[in-house]
Amino acid sequence: MRWYSEVMVDTITLPGLIDPHVHLRDPGQTHKEDFYTGTVAALAGGYTTVVDMPNNSEPITTADRLEAKIASAQAKTVANIGFHFGTLGDNFGEFEKVIDKVIGLKIYMNVTTGGYKIDAYKLIEIYKAWPNQKPILLHAEDDVSDIVLKTLREVPTKTHICHVSSQAELEFVIRAKEAGLPISCGVTPHHLFLTDEDAKRLGPYGHMKPYLKKQKDVDFLWSHMDAIDIIESDHAPHTKAEKTGTTPPFGVPGLETTLPLMLTAQQEGKISHNKLLSLLYEKPKHLFNIPTDDTTRIEVSMEPYEIKDEDLHTKAGWSPFTGKQVIGKVRKVYIRDKLVFADNRVTIRPGEGNIIPAL
Ligand code: NCD
Ligand code: ZN
Repeated sequence: MRWYSEVMVDTITLPGLIDPHVHLRDPGQTHKEDFYTGTVAALAGGYTTVVDMPNNSEPITTADRLEAKIASAQAKTVANIGFHFGTLGDNFGEFEKVIDKVIGLKIYMNVTTGGYKIDAYKLIEIYKAWPNQKPILLHAEDDVSDIVLKTLREVPTKTHICHVSSQAELEFVIRAKEAGLPISCGVTPHHLFLTDEDAKRLGPYGHMKPYLKKQKDVDFLWSHMDAIDIIESDHAPHTKAEKTGTTPPFGVPGLETTLPLMLTAQQEGKISHNKLLSLLYEKPKHLFNIPTDDTTRIEVSMEPYEIKDEDLHTKAGWSPFTGKQVIGKVRKVYIRDKLVFADNRVTIRPGEGNIIPAL
């Protein structure tokens, strides 16, 4: 219990959350974020494990680049961190070299930050080449669903569809699940809590891939929560200067706002506590084979507050949710029973976090 404006507020304990989809920009674009600031933001948001995407300025498509990335993380991380490998369809010789060091393979089938879109006809070759003990993650918006279905039928590798945002995309996932294909999907908080109307208000700060959708799409996501496996923040930091420049890059930060948004939705009766835990911990753990233990946990004070730019730890320093009233402030974080974050500050040194899978 803690006192908030003369009222007693509950503190709840949850397992350390898992986010399998973040962009911490290190190495290459550390003016946006780095492994220290990104993992501090993770802890502040209640995440003890994050998995980083490969669309660095030099994409992580070779074993050498992966090693360099791991080395950078080893020196800076304060949370558990793992990595997804990348491919443009021309690095199959690297797959065996990296398979034990990564969580999954990320493939971009649509244009987004970094410009690493593959040619759709290469998808099947990539599926055949990837050692199928680890999952494939697809950035696959509506227009490419047919080729995804065809590929999965031919090479049934565990596949996660990232950031499903529309009714049509979720209907596709539901159909694929009904057909018995090994498919899962994630939704971002911005696609659950913002619409194309907010995009007008937010300007470049509401500019991301996939784009914000109509209220009817958002309603469809909420009314089909059963079909959604995980919430992924898609934490994609860019500086304010970049966002307000002539060609704002796609992406919004999300690590520090996802849990409070979901706890607020829980308080409003939009989602059960069990489903919240499943979305933010159990399913990501299961789908991406994330090592966990019972003493890795977070303490969250259920107090109301307003999201403010100046309270964020991400180097980006802004959020599309600034000004929103939420509940749920992360007070303490323990990794393997060690206190790593308390009262808004990290209590361990850079590099004292862990690289996964080799926990
Ligand atoms: C991401 C980024 O900035 O790296 N941007 C985004 O809009 N989501 C890339 C991605 O996940 O598509
Ligand atoms: Zn992403």
